[in-house]
Amino acid sequence: MLNTRKRSFADLRAEFPIFRNKTYINSCSYGALSNHVRAAFNAYLEAREVEGAPWQMFVEKLEQARAQFAAQINASPDEIALTTSASQAIGAVATGIRLDQGRDQVLITDYEFPTSGENWFAQEARGARVSIVGPGSSGYILPEDIAAAMTDKTAVVAATHVCYRNGFRQDIAAVTAAARDAGAVAVIDGFQCLGTEPLDVKALDLDIYVGGATKYMLATAGLCFMYVRKPLIEKIRPLVTGWFAQSDIFAMDHRKNDFSETARRFDSGTPPNVNVMAAIAGMDLIDEAEPAKIRSHVLGLNDRLKKGVRDLQGRLATPDDPMWHGAMIAIKSTDENALVAALESDGIITSCRDGNLRVSAHLYNNQQDIDAVLAALDKNRALLA
Ligand SMILES: Cc1ncc(COP(=O)(O)O)c(C=O)c1O
Repeated sequence: MLNTRKRSFADLRAEFPIFRNKTYINSCSYGALSNHVRAAFNAYLEAREVEGAPWQMFVEKLEQARAQFAAQINASPDEIALTTSASQAIGAVATGIRLDQGRDQVLITDYEFPTSGENWFAQEARGARVSIVGPGSSGYILPEDIAAAMTDKTAVVAATHVCYRNGFRQDIAAVTAAARDAGAVAVIDGFQCLGTEPLDVKALDLDIYVGGATKYMLATAGLCFMYVRKPLIEKIRPLVTGWFAQSDIFAMDHRKNDFSETARRFDSGTPPNVNVMAAIAGMDLIDEAEPAKIRSHVLGLNDRLKKGVRDLQGRLATPDDPMWHGAMIAIKSTDENALVAALESDGIITSCRDGNLRVSAHLYNNQQDIDAVLAALDKNRALLA
């Protein structure tokens, strides 16, 4: 645990050694490593070295992580599955949602991360008919564009909370409500959002929400979670499973499959213990900073960034209105890989996708970081589209 004193964002920045050498503004790719998360990795190694096989501690940590993820989104631990990737979580529900009761259509959007599309296309073998919703007249994929594509055959609507390519932030409550009206289940990929703002799955009345520890949750790849609304859990029977998904993980009974009645049924085999411990440490930092304060801090930085890009005659792929974007701002480029490399040569770490430079601030970034990015963009105006 961290001590209970809440540090300012400026003090929290000192937790992240990378800022001694770099301007790191790339949380959409990987959260920066903190001393606190490093200590959690060390605690895992220490326990292995000293105790050998501390399974009791690992199981306790797994349940602690489940409870902490639940608390992040106002869910109960029984509504949370823990997996090693978003792919595994989405795959578990994709294989388990019934497609044989007169509803076989799966709607996905053009904003999905690959795995969200791929897992649904894989269900074609079970009779799924996958349709893709693209941008409407606004130029973006709005809830009404998705709702317009729903029919009485729609079983699933898969949508992303914040798009990893252009930073568009979806109104996931509206998408889920429209899906429910149509008799479908909404599966939301929240990987690019959790850790950047408060999230209340009950207030938003969500069905399924997937997130992970890699990015804005400030921990590591290799631990993800999935919220499943209680009444849906028993209706979804995954075709992939493991002993940690059973009603009694200590039953050790290979003669049957006895799913947990909770969302643990979407877990799998032996948990990634080291990642579990790191994820807990990442969540400590998010809790200390407080998601509502992170959102307003990052919105302030992004206002400065958006204005600066406009002053440079650059163009955003991200909508200008903060209601419709998350922490990541996507800037159009004529050669995004060259732009990332140019910024890197000035010690500024960003990333790119789909013709856009991605600048993704978090609690540890400050105005000087934004000004450094803008100065580097000014030097490389020729690479702005
Ligand atoms: C929107 C989104 N979903 C999911 C993932 C990761 O998926 P997985 O955990 O299956 O690698 C990412 C990572 O880049 C992402 O940006």
